[in-house]
Amino acid sequence: ADEPLVLGIETSCDETGIGIVRGTTLLADAVASSVDEHARYGGVVPEVASRAHLEAMVPTVHRALKDAGVAMSDIDAIAVTSGPGLAGALLVGVAAAKGYAMALDKPVYGVNHLAAHVCVDQLEHGRLPEPCMALLVSGGHSSLLLVPDVTSDVRPLGATIDDAAGEAFDKVARVLGLGFPGGPLIDRRAREGDPDAIAFPRGLSGPRDAAYDFSFSGLKTAVARWVEARGRDGKPVPVADVAASFQEAVVDVLTRKAIRACRENDVDHLLVGGGVAANSRLRAMAAERCAAAGITLRVPRPGLCTDNGAMVAALGAEMVRRDRAPSTLGIPADSSMPV
Ligand code: KG4
Ligand code: ZN
Repeated sequence: ADEPLVLGIETSCDETGIGIVRGTTLLADAVASSVDEHARYGGVVPEVASRAHLEAMVPTVHRALKDAGVAMSDIDAIAVTSGPGLAGALLVGVAAAKGYAMALDKPVYGVNHLAAHVCVDQLEHGRLPEPCMALLVSGGHSSLLLVPDVTSDVRPLGATIDDAAGEAFDKVARVLGLGFPGGPLIDRRAREGDPDAIAFPRGLSGPRDAAYDFSFSGLKTAVARWVEARGRDGKPVPVADVAASFQEAVVDVLTRKAIRACRENDVDHLLVGGGVAANSRLRAMAAERCAAAGITLRVPRPGLCTDNGAMVAALGAEMVRRDRAPSTLGIPADSSMPV
C-alpha cells in the first residue's frame, strides 16, 4: 500500500477518460464518450469533442473517485495526456490536470498518449517486460514502437504513411453502409464472411518497401472501387465477404510486420494496443503467428485498448515509481507530440 495513488486524465480524442490506479492495480476507469455526437458526421468533430470534454470532466472525475472509493485528497499525483491528439481536446485535460495539481499541491506528469497505450497492459498482465515491441493501432495512429523504457525511451520504428488502421476500418464501413465507428461493425460482419473471397492489396509489403511502415489508403480505395463495380454491374454487395477480406488484408500486414520487428530487434515480447487491438481477427492471428515465432503476446482486454484514463494513470504511476521528474505547470497540449 506504499504504492502511489495516481489519477489519470485522457482527453486526446473523443473520450473523456479518468482512471485511478495504485501502482499496477486498477481502482477506477470512468469514461464518458462523445462518440454518439460524432456518429452523424461519420468521424470525430474536434469542436464537438472539446465541448464534450468540458462538460464531462468534473462529473467523470467524481464518478472515478466514487468507483475507487477514495477522496480527492488521497491522490498522490496527477497524470495527463499531453499529446499527441486534437489540440483543443488535449487543452481541456491539461487545464484540468494543472488545476487539480495546484489545488491539491501534488505533482503532475504530462505523458505521451502512445506510451500510455503501451503501459496500460501492466494493469492486466503485471509489469511490462522491457525491452518489448508494441504495435499500436487505433483511429489516429498505427505504429510499431521499440520500448526499452516505457517512461523515457520509446522508439518509433515505423508508422502509417497515410491512413491509420482504425481510420481504414471506419472508411470501409462507411463504403459498406455499416455506420460509425466502423471497426466493431466490420469485425462482427466479417465473422460470417470468407477472408479469402477477394484478394485485396497488402500495402507496403514488397521487399523494397520500408520495412516497418504501413499504408492503408490504397486498400481502402481498392475496396471502394470493388464495391462500386458491383453496383455498376447491378449485383448485390456481399458485405460479409468484403468485410472479412478487407479485415484479413489489414491484419495480415500488421501481424507480419510486428513479428518481423521483434525478430530483427531481438525482442521476444509483443504488445498490441489501441482501439483496433479489440479486433477479434487481429487477436487470433497475432496469437497464432507469435506462437509460431516463439514470441510472447500481450494484449490488454478490449476496454483497456480503447482510449481511457487508466492508461494515463498507469504510466503516471510508473513515472513515480521510477523517480522521473514531474512536469511543471507549463505542460503543453502538444497535438503532434513525438514519442
Ligand atoms: O484507441 P481508440 O479508441 O481511439 C483512437 O485513439 O483512435 O480507437 C478507435 C478506433 C476506431 O477507428 C475504431 O473503428 C477502431 O478503433 N476499432 C476497431 C474495433 N474496435 C474499435 N477496429 C477493428 N475492430 C474492432 N473490433
Ligand atoms: Zn489512442
